[in-house]
Amino acid sequence: IPVDPFDLVLFGATGDLARRKILPSLYRRFLAGQMPDTARVIGAARSELSNEEFRDLVREALAEFVSKAKTDKAAIDAFVAQCSYIAIDAKGDGGWSDLKQMVREDAIKAFYFSVAPSIFGALADKLRSHGIACDNSRLVVEKPFGTDLKTAKKLNADLAASFREDQIYRIDHFLGKETVQNLMAVRFANVLFEPLWNERYIDHVQITVAETVGVGGRGSYYDKSGAMRDMVQNHLMQLLCLTAMEPPAAFDPDRLRDEKLKVIRALDPVPLKDVVRGQYKSGPEPSYIEDAENADSKTESYIALKIGISNWRWKHTPFYLRTGKRLTKRMSEIVVQFKETPHSIFDRDDGSTANALTIRLQPDEGIDLSVTIKEPGPGGMRLTNVPLDMSFADALGADDAEMPDAYERLIMDVIRGNQTLFMRGDEVEAAWAWTDPIINAWEAQGDKPKQYPQGSSGPEEALALLLRDGRRWRDLE
Ligand code: BG6
Repeated sequence: IPVDPFDLVLFGATGDLARRKILPSLYRRFLAGQMPDTARVIGAARSELSNEEFRDLVREALAEFVSKAKTDKAAIDAFVAQCSYIAIDAKGDGGWSDLKQMVREDAIKAFYFSVAPSIFGALADKLRSHGIACDNSRLVVEKPFGTDLKTAKKLNADLAASFREDQIYRIDHFLGKETVQNLMAVRFANVLFEPLWNERYIDHVQITVAETVGVGGRGSYYDKSGAMRDMVQNHLMQLLCLTAMEPPAAFDPDRLRDEKLKVIRALDPVPLKDVVRGQYKSGPEPSYIEDAENADSKTESYIALKIGISNWRWKHTPFYLRTGKRLTKRMSEIVVQFKETPHSIFDRDDGSTANALTIRLQPDEGIDLSVTIKEPGPGGMRLTNVPLDMSFADALGADDAEMPDAYERLIMDVIRGNQTLFMRGDEVEAAWAWTDPIINAWEAQGDKPKQYPQGSSGPEEALALLLRDGRRWRDLE
């Protein structure tokens, strides 16, 4: 269903995220017939470019980041005809009155800040003071939303000076991933899981976001951030919240975000003994230190944490989180490990347990319930674990490559005015309020992260984090 006509002003239109994600996602929605002919994408950045030069950049981005099957010349020509460009001076006056002429009064206006957070406030202020933004305009902001509680509060205050909270869409692109939304569908549209979804039946939860890429190319940003700020405070936190939250009263932005906020506020402080930080060594690719160009770096490219949640539902069920770069495999999943039966009537010789629900985010998005059954055949009552597997690709006939990118959904949600999959200001602040003391503690201690080989599953100390509790990480192999 096409959305209403819109003008999307993309600040940072010549930047990396715009090229890799935002423009290709808009193009795919255009191909799907969701972006009406009357919609316009207005690129805005510092460089002086003509409309044609910008359209060439868009063409190059599509050639690089959209699958060949979809890059039909006629379609691309039609899409770029809806794109234009304006050079903007974020802090001065250049370009603003022209931009005011360009945006239409009768279209939905969305302003997308794909720029450094340090200029969020200045841009928001210009949009207001030049009368470009109005009361129902939407503002989209990218992460990182601050580097700690103090900076996040300042960003929230800067944006609040020009926009209401219900106009602000803070992106966490993990919330746009198909399986992440499916986690909510599975939990709240089936009666099967809810009675078991608590500390009585769930032994623990593992959340893994493993990547094979390093930080080369973005070392200067990453070295000030590290895995905790780059991934845990936002993406893994969102996954934890959706797994742990109470059923909201309605699938409505504020009801949902209220429940996520309650989870964040119930997170226990994490002592350093429950944190393992790592840095990848060199070979075959450069080491973290080389990528970051900082020989003394104490920034982590890997982190594992054990987290407790102090509420009735989760009091004795730990959540183990891990994420890292240059690991053996690109794999993201949430594993909900149920407890053993209270008393086993069968002899198990392999020591393995099934009873797990795995929500796979990537690759091969899907949900897999692992159960124990009798091994077929006459060999007596021998047990084995098998998956009741639902790969979305198989079940829904969608090819993995065809799954809409998270950004496609999120950008269309902005145009529709639906904030459900975006973070609210208080949620982001609460996440930083939990993160800050952990970071402060390791900074005060001053230890260097543990070194781990490229292509491994992280530092060995991370294994010990679970082993000491009699548990094991799911194999990354
Ligand atoms: C980004 C992080 O937010 O998410 C990156 O800054 C990370 O470091 C990326 O690689 C992972 O996203 P995806 O969609 O590729 O899993």
